[in-house]
Amino acid sequence: MTIYDLKIPPVALGTWAWGDSGEAGDGYFGSQMTQAGLQEVADKAHAAGFTLWDTAMVYGMGRSELVLGEVLKRFTRSDYQLSTKFTPQAAGTTDDPMADMLQQSLIRLGTDYIDLYWIHNPADVARWTPHLIPLLKSGKVKHVGVSNHNLSDIKLANKILGEAGYRVEAVQNHYSLLYRSPEDTGILDYCRNQGIPFFAYMVLEQGVLSGRYSPENPLPEGSNRAETYNGMLPQLKALTDKLASIGQKQGAAAPDVATAWAIAKGTTPIIGITKPSYIDGLVRAITMTLSSGEIAELEAFADAANVNTRGWWEKEV
Ligand SMILES: NC(=O)c1ccc[n+]([C@@H]2O[C@H](COP(=O)([O-])OP(=O)(O)OC[C@H]3O[C@@H](n4cnc5c(N)ncnc54)[C@H](OP(=O)(O)O)[C@@H]3O)[C@@H](O)[C@H]2O)c1
Repeated sequence: MTIYDLKIPPVALGTWAWGDSGEAGDGYFGSQMTQAGLQEVADKAHAAGFTLWDTAMVYGMGRSELVLGEVLKRFTRSDYQLSTKFTPQAAGTTDDPMADMLQQSLIRLGTDYIDLYWIHNPADVARWTPHLIPLLKSGKVKHVGVSNHNLSDIKLANKILGEAGYRVEAVQNHYSLLYRSPEDTGILDYCRNQGIPFFAYMVLEQGVLSGRYSPENPLPEGSNRAETYNGMLPQLKALTDKLASIGQKQGAAAPDVATAWAIAKGTTPIIGITKPSYIDGLVRAITMTLSSGEIAELEAFADAANVNTRGWWEKEV
C-alpha cells in the first residue's frame, strides 16, 4: 500500500486575491492581475520549490480555483499540492453538500483529488466534520484540516475524526505580528504538542505589513481590504520601518521579515502571491534568521501599533 504523505513546505502560496482577476472577481483585494502574469508567478514559484497552493471555492466564487487550475495545467499533478476548502456558510441543500462542493472544486481545478481539504469555518463542528470521512475513504481527499476553529472546535473535530481512524492533520488560522491570538488561546501550543502543522494566514495583513502602502499610497480604493486597513496605516508605519531595517541587515525587505517571523514561530505561512517578484521575497524569507531580540522588538512595535485586525469571518475567542 502506498502511504500518501503530505510534505509540509516552509511556505505555502495563497490565491484569495486571484479571485479578483477578471470581471467575475469579487474585488476583495482590488488587485490587477492577468492570466499571463499569474502563469509567470506559478512558473517562478515551482522553479524555486514552492508548490503547495491554497485556495477556496468562495475566493471569487470559483474564480480563484478556475484560474489556479488553468495556470497549473502545464505541470505534472504530482509535482504540486492543492489545498482547498469546504465553506459551510456557502453549502447547498443537497443530501451531501460537502461532497458536492468538493466535486465542483475538482472540476474547476482540473484534478481528481485534493491533497489537503479544509473545513473553512466552524459553522457546526459536530454536523460537518463527519462529512470528511467518506471523502478521505474515497481518495478524493488525501488529508484534512480545519480552519478558523477555536481550540475546543479543533479538539472536537479531532475526536470525531479519531473515532473513524483519522485525525486533524493541519490547522489554518489568522496569525501575524498584529494578530497573535493563536498564541494566547493555546492553539499554537496544542498543535505543537499534537504534532499538527499550523498554517498561518494573513501574515502580511493583506499587504499592509509589506510597507508598500501608506496614507499617501493607500490600498486600492473600493476594495474590501482598503476599508479594513487604510485607516490603520499611520499607526503601522513604525512597525513597517522596523521590519525594513531588520531586513536591510540581511539584504531582505519588510515582507520577507514578517514571513520569517511566522516561520521562526514554528508555523507555515500561507503568503498571498500576486506578482512574480514576490517569490524572490519567499526565497529570502526561508533563509533568514531572526534573533530572539529582533523577534521581541518586532512584537513590541506590533503591540504599540494597537490595532485589531481580526477578520469579520473570525469568531471572537
Ligand atoms: N482560511 C481562511 O479563512 C483564510 C482567510 C484569509 C486568507 N487565507 C489564505 O491565506 C492566504 C494569504 O492571505 P491573504 O492573501 O489574504 O493576505 P497576505 O498573505 O497577508 O497578503 C497578501 C498580499 O500581500 C502583498 N504581498 C505579498 N507578497 C509581497 C511581497 N513580497 N512584497 C510586497 N507585497 C507583497 C500582495 O498585495 P498587492 O497585490 O497589493 O501587492 C498580496 O495580495 C490567502 O491568499 C488564502 O489562501 C485563508
